[in-house]
Amino acid sequence: MIKIAVLVSGNGSNLQALIDANLSGQIVGVISNKPNAFALERAKNAGINTAVIEHKQYPNREAFDAVMHQQLLDWKIDLVILAGFMRILSAKFVQAWQGKMVNIHPSLLPYYKGMHTHERVLNTGDVWHGCTVHYVTAELDAGQALTQGVLKVNLQDDVDSLASRVHVLEHLIYPQ
Ligand code: GAR
Repeated sequence: MIKIAVLVSGNGSNLQALIDANLSGQIVGVISNKPNAFALERAKNAGINTAVIEHKQYPNREAFDAVMHQQLLDWKIDLVILAGFMRILSAKFVQAWQGKMVNIHPSLLPYYKGMHTHERVLNTGDVWHGCTVHYVTAELDAGQALTQGVLKVNLQDDVDSLASRVHVLEHLIYPQ
């Protein structure tokens, strides 16, 4: 069975969806760059190993990534899943895990790379929005897409309602 690590920074609702799904691999570890991320509680409740690697404690991105890389090697990880992990990864780290690392992003890539996607969709007046699961490559939010979830933006939608509607889709498509 393939060994999976999930990298998180926050609430971890996508991590929860992965834990609750009947995956063909095993989640053996969760790494958070934030010590107070609720995702860590979710992992512990599921009996999954956790590691807190705080980016602030390292002089630069490369040093932080090297510690994460070693943790992934120690756990003998085959697949890295980014689930609300809010750090940009160094080119060296991405290269080491190329083809073995996926991310979920809250927009219909290639539209709305980066942050504040719901707000930008609303400001543009788009009709369609959603989320994308994609391979991670050196260029931010630009790797090949594996799947997308699509929703229609309602006239009544605001940032919060769009965020929660996108989350529902994320929890469906990421385990797939
Ligand atoms: C998700 O909406 C995910 O798409 C987004 O962060 C949220 C994490 O929620 N990821 C990014 O914006 C990555 N650039 P969660 O912690 O509840 O899974």
